[in-house]
Amino acid sequence: MSNPAPIGVFDSGIGGLTVVHEIMRQLPHESIVYFGDTARVPYGNKGPETVQRYSREIADFLESQGVKAIVIACNTATAHALPMLRAERALPVIGVVEPGARAAVAASRSGAIGVIGTLGTVKSGAYDRAIHALRPDARVAGQACPLFVPLVEEGWTDRAATRLVADEYLEPLVHEHVDTLVLGCTHYPLLKPLLHELLGPTVRLIDSAEETAAETARVLRDRGLEAPAGAVPVHRFFCSDEPSRFLALGQRFLGRAIDRVESHPLG
Ligand code: DGL
Repeated sequence: MSNPAPIGVFDSGIGGLTVVHEIMRQLPHESIVYFGDTARVPYGNKGPETVQRYSREIADFLESQGVKAIVIACNTATAHALPMLRAERALPVIGVVEPGARAAVAASRSGAIGVIGTLGTVKSGAYDRAIHALRPDARVAGQACPLFVPLVEEGWTDRAATRLVADEYLEPLVHEHVDTLVLGCTHYPLLKPLLHELLGPTVRLIDSAEETAAETARVLRDRGLEAPAGAVPVHRFFCSDEPSRFLALGQRFLGRAIDRVESHPLG
């Protein structure tokens, strides 16, 4: 069985393109419709009900585009809205938290696992719950890193200022002797080299994007929803604001050129 319909992927903005990058790499025949809510970003410091409302509107839009599955590429939207969307929708909904937690538990020897993310993601406790469900004796240390998102969007992934900020954020996690760190935000994979340098080789960095793409592949296979062999993929990008910033920054997150972004205001 196969299904040529696109996968719907959404995020609060452009950060979710790190997940799209991985889906394109692991599932090169799949078509994708991406929606970035650039008019309402950031989600990281908004309340759960607001993020749920936004997520529902985006899921409606993606379903109107005929998607066969929805990937919530945004950690904050996954933390607040995944159970709701799963309960409401007939199609499979995949989030970034469970795959990231699974990879972290598999990687950690000591069970001391750090999670960095937005304020909303860390406060929600979603990663703590997902990790404890797999390893009840794990010690999870969460740290919100709200300044990382604007720094990454500025392209400051290797500046002295970013190092200072990162040192400060990581200090409590170093104190907890974490041996594994979940990069629980779409933007953080771009900070991997810096975080690796600051934490040293003994701390494993878990990139939710890679794990989420692998989970998407598994779900499509299990449900007979994979694209037909040899299918030529179509990738469409939508955002809710005017598209100039998406076009300018998107390339860095996606790792390849984007020639066209369509504007679709919501709400
Ligand atoms: N996409 C968000 C996340 O992964 C980060 C940006 C935001 O705060 O909206 O949590």
